Amino acid sequence: MAVKKTGGLAEVIAGLTAVSTVGKEGKGLTYRGYSIHDLAEFGTFEETAYLLIYGKLPSETELRQYKIRLAGLRRLPEGVRGLLELLPGDAHPMDVLRTGMSALASFEPETAGRSQFEIADRLIACCASVIMYWHHYHTSGSRIETVTDNGSVAGHFLQLLHGHKPSELQERALDASLILYAEHEYNASTFASRVTASTLSDFYSAVVTGIGTLRGPLHGGANEAAMELIGSFGDPDEAEAAVLQMLADKKLIMGFGHRVYSVSDPRSDIIKGWSKTLSEKNGGMTLYQISERIEQVMQREKKLFPNLDFYSASAYRMLGIPTVFFTPIFVISRLSGWSAHIIEQRAGNRIIRPSAEYTGPEPLPWEPISSRS
Ligand code: COA
Repeated sequence: MAVKKTGGLAEVIAGLTAVSTVGKEGKGLTYRGYSIHDLAEFGTFEETAYLLIYGKLPSETELRQYKIRLAGLRRLPEGVRGLLELLPGDAHPMDVLRTGMSALASFEPETAGRSQFEIADRLIACCASVIMYWHHYHTSGSRIETVTDNGSVAGHFLQLLHGHKPSELQERALDASLILYAEHEYNASTFASRVTASTLSDFYSAVVTGIGTLRGPLHGGANEAAMELIGSFGDPDEAEAAVLQMLADKKLIMGFGHRVYSVSDPRSDIIKGWSKTLSEKNGGMTLYQISERIEQVMQREKKLFPNLDFYSASAYRMLGIPTVFFTPIFVISRLSGWSAHIIEQRAGNRIIRPSAEYTGPEPLPWEPISSRS
């Protein structure tokens, strides 16, 4: 049966928010009024998460205390660790993360006197621990200590992954990426989280909804899909020929285009800069050059521009991060945006329940089973 494509709620104002602006005339991308450019250049992910969740930039003391608090929330309950050991080693880390976060809800439920702010902090703090505990257990059999002496969320992730302290440049690059990924208004996963929150469900359920929605390649999964594409080419000429063929075959090129932006994604140039810096530092420009060529082809052929996911792929590769962890990193960061939106939804809640235009048959008479064909 042919089904008409839906409008995907394009250009529909589905609610109110004071968390961020995306592509608004004269404002661009801002988190609680602050430009993404300033946040990425002068801020840190912790300042950004605090801003989103607590509604203001932290003072020096508040930031110091917030970082200490997050660092103290990295250990996983024994039951969650046991569960992560039971999951298959060849599962996708997004499955693991969805299950791990969901399991945490049973060990540390919202109903046991925990505030929504405490849960938001806890999830941001221990997200890397969930993925990396599972990863190391299944690749080397080691039950790693998920508490590190690294003070930042970005540094904690890289330290757990590689087993040693990242360089300042590496930590700063991932930190900038976390800032860029933190929030983006009513994107699919945030909206889905708000829908769950609007039923007065618990905080974890709303977050797990977000994780499931983020995973798809049309949304957060695009960074992994972009890496697979870029990584399949040996040089820019090969990439150009293959992308032209994909366009002729009407295939999507992951990491390009956007529902809201029509000319460019303001986050792309920032992450592109990091991708270039890391590539130069690593002494390998091939991936970056392949990426740039694909960008040129997409601009020339389709007037399409890279979104944040495209250059995130080569930047993450330059940080030595395996592709399967790209979308989980997006989760670590977007937990801050989801949390801000869940809190906001709860503060002025009305259940989200839109209507649909009916396209089915006219009312039919009941058919007894004996007379059906
Ligand atoms: N590669 C090739 N063509 C693309 C494209 C891409 N990445 N993105 C959009 N297009 C084309 C569409 O096929 C469509 O062509 P048509 O008019 O001939 O059918 C046209 O551009 C408009 O796109 P549309 O599908 O209406 O955009 P949307 O707003 O529904 O979807 C995205 C937005 C982001 C889902 C879409 O651009 C996409 O699938 N991008 C790739 C996945 C991705 O990078 N996602 C991360 C988003 S941050």
